[in-house]
Amino acid sequence: MKTATIFRTTSFILGAALVLFAPTGCGSKTQAPAPAENVKSGGPAIDVSLAPTPPMGFNTWNKFGCSVDEKLIRETADAMVATGMLEAGYKYLVIDDCWQVARDASGRIVADPQRFPAGMKALADYVHDKGLLFGLYTDVGPKTCAGRPASFGFEDMDAASYAEWGVDYVKVDWCNADNLDPRVEYTKFRDALRKAGRPIVLSICEWGRNDPWTWAPGVGQLWRTTADIGDNWESVAWIINANSRLYESAGPGRWNDPDMLEVGNGGMTRDEYKAHFSLWAIMAAPLMAGNDLRVMTEETKEILLNREVIEVDQDPLGGQGRIVIDRGYGGQVWMKPLADGSRAVAFLNLASKELELYVRWAQIGIPAGPARVRDLWAHKDLGVHSDLGTHFDQRFKATVPPHGVILVRIRPGQ
Ligand code: GAL
Repeated sequence: MKTATIFRTTSFILGAALVLFAPTGCGSKTQAPAPAENVKSGGPAIDVSLAPTPPMGFNTWNKFGCSVDEKLIRETADAMVATGMLEAGYKYLVIDDCWQVARDASGRIVADPQRFPAGMKALADYVHDKGLLFGLYTDVGPKTCAGRPASFGFEDMDAASYAEWGVDYVKVDWCNADNLDPRVEYTKFRDALRKAGRPIVLSICEWGRNDPWTWAPGVGQLWRTTADIGDNWESVAWIINANSRLYESAGPGRWNDPDMLEVGNGGMTRDEYKAHFSLWAIMAAPLMAGNDLRVMTEETKEILLNREVIEVDQDPLGGQGRIVIDRGYGGQVWMKPLADGSRAVAFLNLASKELELYVRWAQIGIPAGPARVRDLWAHKDLGVHSDLGTHFDQRFKATVPPHGVILVRIRPGQ
């Protein structure tokens, strides 16, 4: 069995296991908080098997824009294996806009023959042979954002081509579509993918314009919540703010997507990239790397391959973390409940001066008393802290650099 197939099977089993064995009891030390703590119940039945945890992978857009070709994709696939990205969970390799040039006489979408001479099927085979999964991009309108032919009126035909080529993930954009009804169009796309008969993740990209969190669960597995990210701190801070309000909508099989990662693209400091990555993890965001994976610095690898932070993002409970303390002057404390009963807690400093931030156990749903704290960037246990809920100096304190984060995992008990 190819690794790609194993992934798919494992995701399905994990998804099924989550549905069947989601912890609901109370009293035990390792009891997980009820999903309702962060995730709205009700709504449409969600098939979690395609994305039981937020999708992880790589997408060409942030770094390469329209400069995509099969050499880049093959080399990126090689790099995803060689650098340990695949092993850490990054499994989708997605080509964004500009791979398509025309439709043939029968209406079938045609990949650029200059840039992809071997064709998409051969490229998907290469990617699958590496143990990865393969993704493409289109748009619900007649043209993509870069003016390439898109899927309006060709949904069934395009979905059939994707299935034939071996596509596992499709990102569907919203350019040239503002006169359309997003719910209708994306549902049409979902149904086309179903008809095509291959499980394909549907990544909805209408930039949060039409409140997708209210209608997209059950249509796609993830939906963009904001306009495009930029490789700068202002953009990251703005997206964090916008996405923070939507925590109730996320859960297994249904993810808010605050856009792809900029880590490693050079526009931010190390602390800023760490904060960007930590906040994406605590918000249970899809982790789609957007840098050149063939030439990563040690600093970039240290961030993208931080297993303890990835674990927070990929925690099977699937709750999106939320702000529990907002100091107003730029200091925030975020909390994400985890399946083993522990809490991921991020002390975020949006300001440009160092800040001290405090949290009480009661503010993150941990009983008064001892709890073990681990720093997920230093990879260090910080010992047992006792907050009996009485004295100020019993609060856990973090000193946070400007535009930085301290990210810890707190487990109740000794
Ligand atoms: C934007 C989208 C970007 C990228 C780009 C391609 O609408 O948000 O992530 O896909 O189009 O043209």
